[in-house]
Amino acid sequence: VQPAIDVFPSATISPVSPYLFSGFLEHLGRCIYGGILPAGPTNFPHTPRNPCPKDQFTETPKELLTKDGFRKDVIELLRDELRVPLVRWPGGNYVSSYHWEDGVGPKDQRKRRPELAWGGEESNQFGTDEFIAWCRETKIEPYIILNMGTGTLEEALRWIEYCNGTGDTYHANLRRRNTGRDEPHNVKYWGLGNEVWGEWQVGQQTAEAYAEKARQWAHAIRLIDPTIKLVVCGQTGLDQWDSVVLDVLADKIDLTSLHLYTGFGPRDRTQKEKEYGRGVYGPDAAEYSIEICRGLINKARVAKNVSKPIKIAFDEYGVWDETVGTPENGLEQYYNFADALAMASWLNVFVRQSDVVDIACIAQSVNVISPLITSATGYFKQTIYHPLHLFSKYMRDGVAVKVQVDSPAFAGETLPQWISPIKGQPKDLDVSAVLSSTDGKKTLSVAVVNRSESKSYDVPLRIAFETVTDVEVHELWHENVQARNGWGKEEEVSVKTRKAKWEGKWTFREHSFTLLILHLA
Ligand code: AHR
Repeated sequence: VQPAIDVFPSATISPVSPYLFSGFLEHLGRCIYGGILPAGPTNFPHTPRNPCPKDQFTETPKELLTKDGFRKDVIELLRDELRVPLVRWPGGNYVSSYHWEDGVGPKDQRKRRPELAWGGEESNQFGTDEFIAWCRETKIEPYIILNMGTGTLEEALRWIEYCNGTGDTYHANLRRRNTGRDEPHNVKYWGLGNEVWGEWQVGQQTAEAYAEKARQWAHAIRLIDPTIKLVVCGQTGLDQWDSVVLDVLADKIDLTSLHLYTGFGPRDRTQKEKEYGRGVYGPDAAEYSIEICRGLINKARVAKNVSKPIKIAFDEYGVWDETVGTPENGLEQYYNFADALAMASWLNVFVRQSDVVDIACIAQSVNVISPLITSATGYFKQTIYHPLHLFSKYMRDGVAVKVQVDSPAFAGETLPQWISPIKGQPKDLDVSAVLSSTDGKKTLSVAVVNRSESKSYDVPLRIAFETVTDVEVHELWHENVQARNGWGKEEEVSVKTRKAKWEGKWTFREHSFTLLILHLA
């Protein structure tokens, strides 16, 4: 196959939802305590692959904190650079035994609890009011997941009343007393449990039992606040679970949540490095899931005669090698360059599928399988930070448009869902495009991942019925796909930006991510 890319700016898919660049905070490892609040000196067990920061035994100085005691550096990065629009909290698996009432009121009276999902203890020093204060400071929309493991419907209704109540009711008044302000927290997005299908979950249920319960919860939640956007707990989008749950709840929900991680570790755990192919081509599995889920959504809508669209909240996605990011090290994974290519492919999937994917939350936003690793006094950006930043900056304010890609395909094994007679093998070239217009000037951003480990491609890039005046190029490339950023080598993997003359074609280097910003006449 001769590689070629055709972009059709007039064939629009959908405006890109800003929520595709959302995040996730879970009470796990050093995400909250260490990433959002300073954790104090820590002897957190780091492995040789995850070496300790130099200042591991240092307290975070007060001047690095906001008046509420949050880390300023993390807030600034998420708010001003990554422009994260929405964050999911408090879990994850954590939420399935979380009682929100333990985390409000005077901090010295909050109950320490055993933490069942990940082990250890929870101090409850970061609860609902702290989360909302942090969201306000970071200009982020809060998205709260309800405890459908050990929690009750009554407790969930109290939580919603506490957050959103404006009347003269007990929990609305309790919030006023605790925060010293009258205005509600106004939490619009609520999730009906986390991964209730998983055997690791506290309170795992069958699809039928969950669907029945979630329907009752949804009904009651709409009575206490009809303005809420409700997210039901789906699985990967193509499972029997998704089908059952959508059939029962299509008339009660606004979104269905999908979870998938790519970047499997080596199958043989004595092997040192990950398998390139299963990681880098893996995100195509998510696209397959989304396509199937779109069908399941429409089937359920037709059966229940629901005219309102139901969107997908891909509210846990990312690159996670479970042999590296383990519960013992708080899921701290140091990413390599190949993982950054996978991250770019993940984002291409969401842009291409932006007519149905409304929310995508990278799991997670800080320290835990995250683009960002903090120490007591600073942070470094992991390899996967760079595609996320480029997409959030250049692929966000516009309309996703259709692309046609001819490309050689990968011959090896990728994710199991993907090895299907329907989809065939994944292409080396993975592309999405967004058309933006500012002050009458049109810009076409074309994101191209060349996933071939060894081949560079000279590619004709045709833009239908448009003339390109000039091009700005952002390229992420490293000769070594195993290269990592880390303490003392923060810039090992970074983006190179330059201007270039447009000649209707581009050379995409082997294993590279290139974002072409084409200015149109
Ligand atoms: O993000 C880490 C964990 O992965 C989450 O807690 C859980 O929902 C998923 O299995």
